[in-house]
Amino acid sequence: MSKSNKTNPTARTNGAGKVDKMDPDVSIDMEAPEFKDFAKSMVDYIAEYLENIRDRRVLPDVKPGYLQPLIPDAAPVKPESWQDVMQDIERVIMPGITHWHSPKFHAYFPTANSYPAIVADMLSGAIACIGFTWIASPACTELEVAMLDWLGKMLELPAEFLACSGGKGGGVIQGTASEATLVALLGAKAKKMKEVRETHPDWDDHTIISKLVGYSSAQAHSSVERAGLLGGVKLRSVPADEQNRLRGEALEKAIEQDLADGLIPFYAVVTLGTTNSCAFDRLDECGPVANKHNVWVHVDAAYAGSAFICPEHRHHMKGIETADSFNFNPHKWMLVNFDCSAMWLKDPSWVVNAFNVDPLYLKHDMQGSAPDYRHWQIPLGRRFRALKLWFVLRLYGVENLQAHIRRHCSYAQQFAELCVQDSRFELAAEVNMGLVCFRLKGSNERNEALLKRINGRGKIHLVPAKIRDVYFLRMAVCSRFTRPEDMEYSWQEVSAAADEEEQQQK
Ligand SMILES: Cc1ncc(COP(=O)(O)O)c(C=O)c1O
Repeated sequence: MSKSNKTNPTARTNGAGKVDKMDPDVSIDMEAPEFKDFAKSMVDYIAEYLENIRDRRVLPDVKPGYLQPLIPDAAPVKPESWQDVMQDIERVIMPGITHWHSPKFHAYFPTANSYPAIVADMLSGAIACIGFTWIASPACTELEVAMLDWLGKMLELPAEFLACSGGKGGGVIQGTASEATLVALLGAKAKKMKEVRETHPDWDDHTIISKLVGYSSAQAHSSVERAGLLGGVKLRSVPADEQNRLRGEALEKAIEQDLADGLIPFYAVVTLGTTNSCAFDRLDECGPVANKHNVWVHVDAAYAGSAFICPEHRHHMKGIETADSFNFNPHKWMLVNFDCSAMWLKDPSWVVNAFNVDPLYLKHDMQGSAPDYRHWQIPLGRRFRALKLWFVLRLYGVENLQAHIRRHCSYAQQFAELCVQDSRFELAAEVNMGLVCFRLKGSNERNEALLKRINGRGKIHLVPAKIRDVYFLRMAVCSRFTRPEDMEYSWQEVSAAADEEEQQQK
């Protein structure tokens, strides 16, 4: 940009010798040749960064406030060069990055990253449409419809969820699983309110809302509780069984009790792959119970849903035909960069009608012939996210995506075996998918000290969880660069930290 005036033959100066920015012939933008150099340089940087990510310290070694002294107090008045910006990435940004794609990162659940998705996001950034209606960019809507069908078929979702079945159902890309849970809750709320208004025309909306109650397992993600708060309804946490699963009997008991108390059950979240321990609620039991009581079933498979592209993991989806909505995050475990949360609805009209406001400026002649996704989500604006699904599905193929899932599962098994061979340790839950829940035998305090030591050493990064007052460490396989040697390295780190902890105790 700093050079653009030199290359622009029509650049003019005003009387004071300054470039007149109001003159439309004076370029204020980065020109295409410079953009190409900048972007190529960034692509080189990205490839170097990712290919050598293993060598970086996974957790940054900075203190809060580290960044401000490294940059000026205010934005520059004059344009700078892109080379200066590039140089500041290592100086300013990288020291404060937690490297989520390092094979040494085992915290939370994975977030996806692949070259095809990065390139697709570049194109999305260039098209930069806001695809809130079909006419706002037909390709944005139509590719999304098609990709959600491709993906639904990969998971073997029942045809009722797919747009290609010709029924009411269809899919949408939400930003996050949390949004999907909230959208489903609002759809369920609208549906139940309509039913209750018909049977109790004398009840006002306030009375009805005060009686609505939803359900999830005590192991459900915090976003479920939050959806209840945002939706202004009661959500009840139902105890999970000893394997951390929501069972049909427990759900039925809670619903019966609430009915006896004059409440109106309307919504149940079934989690396939809980955050704490990757437990699978029994959809085959909970779904029929919820259906019997006319309660909307939302399936939250945020992390583990990606594994359902592998036939050997699909048994966890047994009962899927009872669900009203299903959601998982390709942006977690299916190599599609954030944000891409796939949601399917059997009957989207409940959600579409719940959110329908129709100002004149958003209407168009083709309304009704294709989805206007603005009605399926909370915000109005939406990026062209289907592109990254399209690129990833085509450039990996189902086979390689399945191989990615299977590798991660095998690395978790490898780590678990190393863990159980050390008599100081025990597994805290069944090893499911790419997650190992483990702990030192003994007190919670011992394990808290161990985790502090592991993260303090900065070589690998883990986070804890607690179920029924038992504190444990979670080792999630997160990186697409992970190899068996990385698992050995991570185990050795855990073991070395345990040695240190033992020394300390002596
Ligand atoms: C089971 C489950 N549900 C929901 C979420 C929230 O996902 P998001 O960040 O996409 O809202 C998570 C995050 O890890 C999760 O594990």
